[in-house]
Amino acid sequence: MNEEYAYHVISPGRVNLIGEHTDYSGGYVLPVATDLHTELRAAPTDDETVTVTSAAFDEQRTFTVDDTTRTSDWADYLKGCYAVLRKEGYAPGGFRGKISGTLPLGSGLSSSASLELAVLGFLNDAYDLGLSRERLALLGQRVENDFVGVSCGIMDQFAVALTRANHALHLDTETLQYDHVPVPDEVQILVYHTGVERALVDSEYNHRRGTVEAGLDALNADTSKDVDPGDLETLSDRQRRRLGFVHRENERVQEATAALSEGDVERVGELLVTAHEDIATNYEASCEELDFFVDVAVDEGAYGARLTGAGWGGAAVALVDRSRAERIANAVHERYEQQYPEHDSRFFLVSPSGGVAVDRTA
Ligand code: GLA
Repeated sequence: MNEEYAYHVISPGRVNLIGEHTDYSGGYVLPVATDLHTELRAAPTDDETVTVTSAAFDEQRTFTVDDTTRTSDWADYLKGCYAVLRKEGYAPGGFRGKISGTLPLGSGLSSSASLELAVLGFLNDAYDLGLSRERLALLGQRVENDFVGVSCGIMDQFAVALTRANHALHLDTETLQYDHVPVPDEVQILVYHTGVERALVDSEYNHRRGTVEAGLDALNADTSKDVDPGDLETLSDRQRRRLGFVHRENERVQEATAALSEGDVERVGELLVTAHEDIATNYEASCEELDFFVDVAVDEGAYGARLTGAGWGGAAVALVDRSRAERIANAVHERYEQQYPEHDSRFFLVSPSGGVAVDRTA
């Protein structure tokens, strides 16, 4: 079967350890890529037609490379890749392909960035576009911003494109400078899918973004890193709480990065918990189920836990000791299921993986 497709792409999802809602104001983030991934098997064609099946949706789509009609579903991510590449003057041809994978969709683990980077990575190799990984990540963000219509920051695409196995990625979202920060071997990452639909995410996200930008304007600050905490008092209550969170979150990323490099996982864990309390109270991006998960994870012995991704449902993350990971995960899951039997919750124990990998199989 595999010989049918000349390319095999594995594109990870991401889970953000800390640095939430900082990437649209030039702040810091510290995500890892997960071994939960999107898989693309693909073969370039001689014409300008794309024919792709999605295992998750059990659907096949055919469109031409210049087709920019939105269908508000998974095909938009593929059409968007062509649209942004073509706008930049590249002219990749068509392909036949099959998308599958292990990454839960739409749950805050970057399934969309993962798909964008799988397609962009494949087109880059198959059609010799010569684009760097940074460039691919930026193009992936443009697929979201300009084509799909989601005004996300750059964290997800950078995590998917540029991470290294067993490392987190420390990224300054203003300068796009990044470092790979080793994650100690004894740490495993518990990703918890709360089963809570992220119904409000688009409207709340845009709202928060607007408030943070207005706050920065009022303070004459270019990025959230330039905010002087003393000046926060001059803002409206809402702007002060939102921007105050972002300012403190940036500082926590810096501290967590230093602690992680020194192998001080306990300190990283404490910072995760503080970050969760702050995002829940001042950014109001949490929900009851995420708060419950954090409390129970810490109670069962995690180093720390917090919501991950945009929030308002979706996924949470906990750092756990590898030797006790299964036990902690099962205990937390049991308590969560007892509390919220109506939610289809799941957990995954993941290790930090490398960024998108494009292999030529033939
Ligand atoms: C979503 C966006 C990211 C980032 C996070 C919040 O995942 O896609 O760019 O803003 O929310 O940290």
